[in-house]
Amino acid sequence: MLVETINNRTANAATESTVLGPFHMVTSPRRALGDSIDLVGTGPRCVLEGRVLSAAGTPLPGAELDVWQANDQGFYDVQQPGVQPAGNGRGLFTAGQDGGYWFRTIVPTYYPIPTDGPVGTLLQSTKRHPYRPAHIHFIVTAPGHRTLTTHIFVAGSPYIESDAVFAVKKSLITEFTPVGDPATAARYGLTGPFQLANFDIVLQPEN
Ligand SMILES: [Fe+2]
Repeated sequence: MLVETINNRTANAATESTVLGPFHMVTSPRRALGDSIDLVGTGPRCVLEGRVLSAAGTPLPGAELDVWQANDQGFYDVQQPGVQPAGNGRGLFTAGQDGGYWFRTIVPTYYPIPTDGPVGTLLQSTKRHPYRPAHIHFIVTAPGHRTLTTHIFVAGSPYIESDAVFAVKKSLITEFTPVGDPATAARYGLTGPFQLANFDIVLQPEN
């Protein structure tokens, strides 16, 4: 995390980066804007939306977003082959003409990093817990811009102040607001209550 922070000093209003983590897959399923990346249907439903912008505030149509997250039990699909369908919690999206993106999913939960190796010994020696607060991973790319690897963190998640891997940056903490209004739900192709999170992504110029 220290190396990541040194290598990705953020200029101007650009979105801050954070660690890639070990659960990214290079073959995420391509999905259309508005699709659900949750293929199981358990856990609190939510919608994530926002725009991909340049540092000058102009929309970046066609920006690519690679997203991945744990399920409501704190596991990624690759940790539970045969339990979760492959590609659950993952998706590749292309931002629209206005730079906008949105997709449906479930609110992920916090999870422990594996403690059965040297990292476990390190955590024990430093008297630190192994938990990471709830988050959704992003890699965002657009021509002429620096690739951004980041997460959004669910505001109010347990461990938001003590992430085992020190990856939380305040600007990445995002409110997931409960929505009960059926008309709003219908706008997102949902029925019943859900949570709505808005996260604009600002990319730095390449040079
Ligand atoms: Fe993660």
